Amino acid sequence: MAFPITRPRRLRVKENIRRLVRETCLTVDDLIYPLFVTHGRGVQSPVEAMPGVYNLSPDMLLEEAARVVDLGIPGILLFGIPREKDETAREAYDDEGIVQQAVRAIKKEFPELVVITDVCLCEYTSHGHCGVVEQGRILNDPTLELLARTALSHARAGADMVAPSDMMDGRVAAIRRALDEAGYQDVSIMSYAAKYASAYYGPFREAVGSAPQFGDRRSYQMDPPNAREALREIALDIEEGADIIMVKPALAYLDIVRQARDAFNYPVAVYNVSGEYAMVKAAALRGWIDERRVVLETLTGMKRAGADIIITYHAKDVARWLREG
Ligand code: PBG
Ligand code: ZN
Repeated sequence: MAFPITRPRRLRVKENIRRLVRETCLTVDDLIYPLFVTHGRGVQSPVEAMPGVYNLSPDMLLEEAARVVDLGIPGILLFGIPREKDETAREAYDDEGIVQQAVRAIKKEFPELVVITDVCLCEYTSHGHCGVVEQGRILNDPTLELLARTALSHARAGADMVAPSDMMDGRVAAIRRALDEAGYQDVSIMSYAAKYASAYYGPFREAVGSAPQFGDRRSYQMDPPNAREALREIALDIEEGADIIMVKPALAYLDIVRQARDAFNYPVAVYNVSGEYAMVKAAALRGWIDERRVVLETLTGMKRAGADIIITYHAKDVARWLREG
């Protein structure tokens, strides 16, 4: 071969050329901001391992929602911290539960904001598992009924979308049926379709006090080494009526995101989870990395892997950075 004719560097000589050939564009339109709501008034209690993230009472949550709307972020994902936890997660499907109250309040003030509710029992159960427990086992089918009641109760409160994160078999079908029978055909389902049993959920479990009191979640969440199984899980959720499929966590699973994007013509969401956020924050606070550049590069990587939607605790910062250009 002669001296190079082809020189890839030609397309890198100046920013405007780079802009022209840029393949992936991260925008505020891609973002969903997770929020934690707790009982009380004037409460804003910091989550230790997630600097910048708080448990908020409904009044404070409204102020936060206003900031989210101002930043142009299209949607939020709501998690609730109940007053009491019990064996059967009663507050999860109580129409006066914390998430239900919060959804009504937000929808009244910000009808255009997409309000997505996480549907699971672990925040509400005394044992911290995502389903009904009997003699140390997590029962699948009895859990479906409670999940469907929870989703329906969220829909009645005004949720635009419900996001089941429990990983029980058949939950999407059970929820879809319950919603349709009650006339909520337009409430969509974003299913945590490929959700792995991950160590990256640690800070989240501290935030909502949902660490399992015995055992772990490996009998329902996926085994990290498995990829083909993720495609089967996703296919099932689509068959059952999921509108958006999610891969979670993000960083260690971007191969799954790419495969999901290639195998299914459905919107793919990725959850940039609490432990991923905590690692970046910890290093940034020590001045060891450039937070803005690292976060933008990471989220761009998620988009490049095939994600249409990114659920991230960095959403407000990213919206600001993108606006600044
Ligand atoms: C509840 C749920 C979890 C997360 C979202 N929904 C925790 C878990 O499954 O233990 C994790 C979110 C995060 O780590 O940011 N099932
Ligand atoms: Zn759960």
